[in-house]
Amino acid sequence: MTKFKRIGVLTSGGDAPGMNAAIRAVVRAGLSNNINITGIIRGYDGLVNGEFREMSSRKVSNIIHRGGTILKSARSEAFRTQEGRYKSYRNLIEEGIEALIVIGGDGTFTGARIFGEEYDFPIVGIPGTIDNDLFGTDMTIGFDTAINTVVEAVDKIRDTASSHERLFFIEVMGKDAGFIALRAGIATGAEAIFIPEVQTELDDFESYLFNGSNQRKSSNIVLVAEGDETGGAFKLADKVKIKFPQYDMRVTILGHIQRGGSPSAYDRYIASRLGVAAIEALMDNQRSIMVGLKHKEIDHIPFAQTIKHHKEADKTLMALLKTLNY
Ligand code: F6P
Repeated sequence: MTKFKRIGVLTSGGDAPGMNAAIRAVVRAGLSNNINITGIIRGYDGLVNGEFREMSSRKVSNIIHRGGTILKSARSEAFRTQEGRYKSYRNLIEEGIEALIVIGGDGTFTGARIFGEEYDFPIVGIPGTIDNDLFGTDMTIGFDTAINTVVEAVDKIRDTASSHERLFFIEVMGKDAGFIALRAGIATGAEAIFIPEVQTELDDFESYLFNGSNQRKSSNIVLVAEGDETGGAFKLADKVKIKFPQYDMRVTILGHIQRGGSPSAYDRYIASRLGVAAIEALMDNQRSIMVGLKHKEIDHIPFAQTIKHHKEADKTLMALLKTLNY
């Protein structure tokens, strides 16, 4: 059992609803174990520049329901350099911070792993990204809220699509992964989904349109992950328009609306559990690991594994979508 006097916490990369709930859990779990908590502002940039805030229990009151992150977030260029990381280490020592908890995604953990090895510094990660693309955890903080936001938006678009008998291409986030498109596509009854993990959707969708299986439908909704190899919703619509000019098509990019908003009950719940688990892991001498959720239980996954392995999208869901569109 390691007895820490002070632990730092930061949020990094794209923000995600539920990050505040995780910060709150880290602060309260730390304080209840007589560990002081320092908030680091603007992710790794704040480490490099020494932007530190003392976190009291009251500083995290009334934030569990708020989107974004009270600690701010950034994608730091400075921390990618050896000089930036050296400055960070000096700042941590001066501040008396003996361990770090970093909340973010793949890039956040890559930085943490390098820094942890370079300076033999204890770091534990908490998965926070709307993309849900981290190997070693069933869910990341923010994913549930993001898909609910997408579902709400797509339902609204369906209303107008039906009224005008239109074909809509709706682009959702996910530059490397199609988890949002897949899950939200099934939940909204989308007619097709385009994701980076699968390369045959255009053929399938074209034969769906050729075969006229859409004839009975007054609207068609296609969800496109931004990282799909077709190049996104606008490019895909252009391609489809050439072969099917008879369709009245529209394109909507949902964009950053997916990253904001009050976190869902589920995101608040997992953020709270993972925040406490991160403090407990550090006290238990764990380092260079991410705390994740496996079959609803807390799990510890080495950074090396979560960074190296690719979390597979469940491709059987594509077949399920076809069945549901029968
Ligand atoms: O990683 C989360 C994410 O929202 C991705 O889905 C998206 O591609 C990216 O961040 C957008 O980042 P930015 O806000 O820096 O444009």
